[in-house]
Amino acid sequence: MADHKKELLQAARKARSKAYAPYSNFHVGAAVLGGNGKIYSGCNVENASFGLTCCAERNAIFAMVAAGEKRIREILVIGQSEEFLPPCGACRQVIAEFAAPTVKVHMANRKGACLTATVGELVPFIFHLKKKR
Ligand code: THU
Repeated sequence: MADHKKELLQAARKARSKAYAPYSNFHVGAAVLGGNGKIYSGCNVENASFGLTCCAERNAIFAMVAAGEKRIREILVIGQSEEFLPPCGACRQVIAEFAAPTVKVHMANRKGACLTATVGELVPFIFHLKKKR
């Protein structure tokens, strides 16, 4: 099936350039394609109180939700290392809240080459709660 890797990569790179990461110096960008066909992006935002740091993936997803969209069709994350960047465990849980198990997660290295897996592969036993509404 056709994917939107190219557009997502471009948006994620642009977001990465805005990363606020003075403590790790590790800049991350993420972009999600929403069910409405729009792309939302985010960067990591760190804090002097380290635990308050928020990853790029979650900031992109929260921007999507704040815009009124609740379904992820595809997601890409890019860091700045040679390795493909896999979403952290917390972000996987948040991705799985809004994405079907078949949704593609593109994990890019700094050159933009991607390793792609599905949400179901990254989170095989996902915790879900029944929604009240
Ligand atoms: N980071 C992300 O933004 N996404 C990930 O999936 C992994 C880690 C950020 C958090 C922190 O600002 C920096 O990378 C180093 O952990």
